Amino acid sequence: MFLFLIHAALMVSGCLLLFSALIVAMTQRKKRWWLKIHKTIGLTGGPLILLGAVAAVAAVASTPEGHHLRTPHTWLGVMTVSAAIITPILGLLQFRFPQKVGTIRVVHRLFGRLLNLMTPIAIFLGLRVAEII
Ligand code: HEM
Ligand code: HEM
Repeated sequence: MFLFLIHAALMVSGCLLLFSALIVAMTQRKKRWWLKIHKTIGLTGGPLILLGAVAAVAAVASTPEGHHLRTPHTWLGVMTVSAAIITPILGLLQFRFPQKVGTIRVVHRLFGRLLNLMTPIAIFLGLRVAEII
């Protein structure tokens, strides 16, 4: 139970940071500080989600059945965790490969938006599977 609580807490905190990264990128781009804040919260949110996934796997492994990836929450969860890793990497790659910046930027924007669409659904399904709502 404790590991499930850690899982939920890490995921919710990570999602709030990823949502803030999206909001900063979409609304604060005229401010001088936007990229620094966007980058910092994006690079903090991603690892929190990854740690949340480690906690989830450990939590499921510690149950008597120990069956991984058996509900829609866990399938969407895997996609969400993947996007939370890929999105900040794409963000950084824009500066590494200036000749490919156009394509990387389009994909980064798409992943950033998709990620923030998936997170509330994953949280909702997680709360359902935990029978909290
Ligand atoms: C964006 C947020 C979330 C993501 C990406 C996520 C991701 C995952 C993943 C990948 C697993 C699979 C672990 C495994 O099978 O080894 C999992 C399991 C689980 N998560 Fe989440 N989770 C999130 C939020 C939550 C929340 C808020 C709760 C509420 C308490 C929650 C409760 C659970 C439960 C109970 C399981 C075990 C479900 C089962 O075995 O069918 N999750 N989660
Ligand atoms: C997971 C965290 C992140 C999310 C959810 C995210 C999301 C987004 C979104 C949605 C946009 C486009 C905003 C718009 O079109 O109005 C954007 C732009 C941008 N992001 Fe991120 N991002 C993240 C992490 C990063 C990181 C770590 C960097 C590295 C510096 C970065 C660099 C950029 C840059 C340079 C732009 C501007 C691109 C342009 O001019 O369109 N992002 N981000």
